[in-house]
Amino acid sequence: MTVHILPPDLQATRPPPSPDPLIVVEDVAKRFVDGRTGRVTAALEHLSFAIREGEFVCLLGPSGCGKSSVLDLLCGFEQPSAGRIRVEGGPVREPGPDRGIVFQEALLFPWLSVLDNITFAPRLAGVPAALYRPRAARLIALMGLDGFENHAPYELSGGMRQRAAIARAWISEPRILLMDEPFGALDAQTRLGMQEQLLIAREATGATVLFVTHDIEEALFLADRILVLSGRPGRVAREIPVPFGRSRRYSALLTDERFGRLKREIVEEFRAG
Ligand SMILES: Nc1ncnc2c1ncn2[C@@H]1O[C@H](COP(=O)(O)OP(=O)(O)OP(=O)(O)O)[C@@H](O)[C@H]1O
Ligand SMILES: [Mg+2]
Repeated sequence: MTVHILPPDLQATRPPPSPDPLIVVEDVAKRFVDGRTGRVTAALEHLSFAIREGEFVCLLGPSGCGKSSVLDLLCGFEQPSAGRIRVEGGPVREPGPDRGIVFQEALLFPWLSVLDNITFAPRLAGVPAALYRPRAARLIALMGLDGFENHAPYELSGGMRQRAAIARAWISEPRILLMDEPFGALDAQTRLGMQEQLLIAREATGATVLFVTHDIEEALFLADRILVLSGRPGRVAREIPVPFGRSRRYSALLTDERFGRLKREIVEEFRAG
């Protein structure tokens, strides 16, 4: 996939970053209680981390360790069972336009076209079409969905649906982008193109990204910092600052000895459980 440079009208004008963290998670627990049987699943326990404005942080951990639950809490779909979560200095009570989310499975409205899915949030907010239409067209081109604007989601491939879901999250220019294994369903080549595009777009917009993955190489390629979660109940087992600069090429990383070393360290961390 060709890598496009983000067009100027998708480059947000933001106030200068604040020195205070944008996201603070303090000793959070999340327990799910089955209403029928009373069975309790402890998904998260003693989870703490903070993310500064403009950072790209990857949450890396094994299946079932509570990664999606962290995003649900930050979105406001769920409330913590214990501890505190603050976003932009305040508690999170409900989803809001400051936080865009790309779910683990592309959740598009099946009855809406690709274009109507992508423009859903600005239309709901009453933004004039003259403002969101050109942005939508650029995002459609960016995501390689040209010619599919009027298709229904079922007429797309899994990867295309996921790209449409990313465009939908991006159109409102959220200050915080929460992404749950968004490239998991893509083939290796498209995935690499999307990862590089995401880095370029993040650089251009200054968005703060919390990106969930269980892929060590993906985390090393994308993140400024990796939070390695323990097995369930998830907590931060290790924090790894990623030493590579912001303009990364995957091919260059593969020959960087630090890449191999960090990958080995994380594999060892996983083995230790
Ligand atoms: N709504 C829910 N009700 C009950 N239990 C839940 C709910 N959501 C998550 N869980 C439980 O919490 C634990 C963590 O789930 P979560 O989806 O956060 O894991 P994950 O790290 O995202 O896994 P994966 O990598 O497979 O997506 C699991 O044991 C799961 O069964
Ligand atoms: Mg998950």
